[in-house]
Amino acid sequence: MITKKYPVLEIENLSKNFNGTSALNKINLLLDSPGVYGFLGPNGAGKTTTFKLICALLKPTTGRVLIDGKDVQRETSAAMACLGVQFDSPAFYPGLTGAENLKVISKWLRGSKTQNIQQLLSFAGLNEAESKKVNEYSWGMKQRLGLASALLPDPKLVLLDEPTNGLDPNGIAYVRGLLPKLAHEQGRTVFLASHRMEEVEQVCDKVIIIHEGTIIASGSPYELTAGKIVELVCDNPHSVVKLLKKFDNVNDVTLLPNSKIQVISPDLETGKLNKFLIENSVFVKEINEKRESLESVFLRLTKGNKNEK
Ligand SMILES: Nc1ncnc2c1ncn2[C@@H]1O[C@H](COP(=O)(O)OP(=O)(O)O)[C@@H](O)[C@H]1O
Ligand SMILES: [Mg+2]
Repeated sequence: MITKKYPVLEIENLSKNFNGTSALNKINLLLDSPGVYGFLGPNGAGKTTTFKLICALLKPTTGRVLIDGKDVQRETSAAMACLGVQFDSPAFYPGLTGAENLKVISKWLRGSKTQNIQQLLSFAGLNEAESKKVNEYSWGMKQRLGLASALLPDPKLVLLDEPTNGLDPNGIAYVRGLLPKLAHEQGRTVFLASHRMEEVEQVCDKVIIIHEGTIIASGSPYELTAGKIVELVCDNPHSVVKLLKKFDNVNDVTLLPNSKIQVISPDLETGKLNKFLIENSVFVKEINEKRESLESVFLRLTKGNKNEK
């Protein structure tokens, strides 16, 4: 028998209003192969709301979520069997050790295939958890136990909501190092919600940018940062900024605090830009080219719309 292969996660036209206020506005998303997918957006953008809708902890206002082809509202237990989740500040029994906590959760997952607890603790860097009670854990250890518990059902889809929040630099590096392993060695689809640009840029195969409940861009970090930045120094920068706004294919011209002019454009040719300036009698003292960073892409896309909720 041929079984149909469904995408790991399919989100269709998904919206959520809280008391008439929109937190999420008709988002669509398809994650159909293993990888690390970053869900990037500032606080209040709608990341946790999306995750709660995926887990069926909230009911959508419109749209639906399918995990491995199963509707999370209508076939909840079948859909949840493919899912592992870590939310910020996971709750555990403080008087039990990490291993004991995972055993309890494993009993709740009765009937589903569960992974070896020792292996999971070791993967999460918690070998010492066997003898320590969770109330003696550091914040970082609790976060990593949260990650281990998300992996307990051997999920195809792993949702991680800001997993490096509150960790020290070593803890951050450790957790970031685990994400590609989950995706590329273990074949899982990892959906990572984060407001940290450098994190997403470092570990994600694809980035989905969410702002004020709307997906505003998606692509690999390489694709998203395809735009070029040219920085130049010249006399009368204010009038040159006005002039550059007339130059073709320019998305954005900014006068930086250091008096350099920054020009951003997807297909900017520095030579043509220089020629345009010379033709307009601008003497360019210095001109440099660099690739746009994810942070600059994000700021450009959300410009004029900076209110954090
Ligand atoms: N239970 C709730 N009741 C009312 N508003 C909520 C609730 N949960 C989230 N919101 C609002 O929805 C928006 C998105 O929040 P959230 O999904 O938590 O954002 P993020 O995780 O990206 O920081 C925010 O404006 C937040 O205040
Ligand atoms: Mg959140």
